[in-house]
Amino acid sequence: MPLIEIENTGERFQQNDIDDCILRAGLASGLGLSYECNSGGCGSCKFELLEGEVETLWADAPGLSARDIKKNRRLACQSRALTDLRIKMHTAPEFCLPVLAKRQSLSLLERRAVTDDIAEFRFQVDNEAVFLPGQYALLHVPGVDSPRAYSMSNLPNQNGEWAFWIRRVANGAATTVLFDQLRRGDRLILDGPYGMAYLRPDSPRDVVCIAGGSGISPMLSIARAAASDPAMAGRRLDFFFGGRRPADLCGQLELAELSRGPGALVTYHCSISDPDVGSGWSGERGFIHELVQRQLGGQLSNRECYLAGPPPMVQATQRALLLDEGVSQDQVHFDRFF
Ligand SMILES: Cc1cc2nc3c(=O)[nH]c(=O)nc-3n(C[C@H](O)[C@H](O)[C@H](O)COP(=O)(O)OP(=O)(O)OC[C@H]3O[C@@H](n4cnc5c(N)ncnc54)[C@H](O)[C@@H]3O)c2cc1C
Ligand code: FES
Repeated sequence: MPLIEIENTGERFQQNDIDDCILRAGLASGLGLSYECNSGGCGSCKFELLEGEVETLWADAPGLSARDIKKNRRLACQSRALTDLRIKMHTAPEFCLPVLAKRQSLSLLERRAVTDDIAEFRFQVDNEAVFLPGQYALLHVPGVDSPRAYSMSNLPNQNGEWAFWIRRVANGAATTVLFDQLRRGDRLILDGPYGMAYLRPDSPRDVVCIAGGSGISPMLSIARAAASDPAMAGRRLDFFFGGRRPADLCGQLELAELSRGPGALVTYHCSISDPDVGSGWSGERGFIHELVQRQLGGQLSNRECYLAGPPPMVQATQRALLLDEGVSQDQVHFDRFF
C-alpha cells in the first residue's frame, strides 16, 4: 500500500486498496487536502509530484493545463499512487471532512419527474444517511468508468434515504444510465459525503440560497434544514432559482411546504434568462445574480450566501456578491457543477 508524504507540511498518509485516488485517500485519513469538485474540473486539488509514480485516471481533465503537466503537476482527484510518493500540496483545516466519507451500496427506491429534464432519485441504504445539508456524494454508476458527483436534496435521516435532483445531460454517460436504464431495486455504490458548501446553522445571519438549474438540489437540502431548525426561527431565507425557460422552474411546491416549519422563514424568487421567452412570461427576466441584486442589493453583506449550479452562473454570482456587494469571502459557500 503506497505511502504518500506531503513535503511542505510533513503529513503522511497511506493509499489503501479501496482508495481510488490520492485525494480521497488523504481525506479519509483525516487530512485537509485542498479540493472542491472531486471531478477533475476545478483544479483545486493540484499537487506537484516530487518523487514516485502515479496512474492518471482522466488524462484530459479540464482542471489541469498543459503547462501544469510540464511543471509535473497532477490532480489528486484524478491520480492514483503506484509507488510511495513525495508531493507538494496545499492543505488547510477547512478541507478536513466534517463527516467521514464512506462507501456503501444503495438501491433505487423511486425516480420521480420534476421537470422535463430533472428527476428526483431516491435511494435506500441499510444504515443511517449521515451528511450535512448542502454536501454531495459520488455515485459509481454501473458501466460508467468514473464516479459522478451529485448533491443531496433531502435531510440526513435515520431511514437511510439519500435523495438527489439530477438533470439529464444529452448523451451524458452517467445520466443516460440513471434516466434510461436504472430500475427500482438496482444497486450502485455511493462514496461520500464530500463538499464544503454546507449550511452553517450557527451563523447569526439571514440566509440567501442561489441556484441555477440542477444546483437546486443542495439548496433544497439547505432550505429544508434551515426551515426545520427551531434555532433558526426569526431568520429569513431568500431562495433564488434561475432557469433558462419557464418550463425549467421547479422547487416552489417543496419550498411552500416549508412555511409550516419552526425555523427560518423561506421566500422563493425566480427568474428566466432566455431573452426570447416571449410575452407569455410575466415574471422576472435576466440572470439570477441580477435578480438577487435587484431584490437584496445593499443588504447582502449581512447574509450567509450559498450558491450552486453551472460554473459560469456561480462565477457571475460570486463576482456580484464579493465585488459589487462587498460580501466577505467567508460568508460565500459554493459548489460549481462541472
Ligand atoms: C460538486 C458537484 C455536485 C454536483 N451535483 C449535481 C446535482 O445535484 N445534480 C445534477 O444533475 N448534477 C450535479 N453535478 C453534475 C454531475 O456530476 C455530472 O457532471 C452530470 O450529471 C453529467 O454527467 P454525465 O456523465 O451524464 O455527462 P458526461 O458529459 O458524460 O460527464 C460529465 C462530467 O463527468 C466527469 N467526467 C467525464 N469524463 C470523465 C472521465 N473520463 N473521468 C473522470 N470524470 C469524467 C466530468 O466531471 C464531466 O464534467 C454535480 C457536479 C459537481 C462537481
Ligand atoms: S477537486 Fe480535483 S479538480 Fe476539482
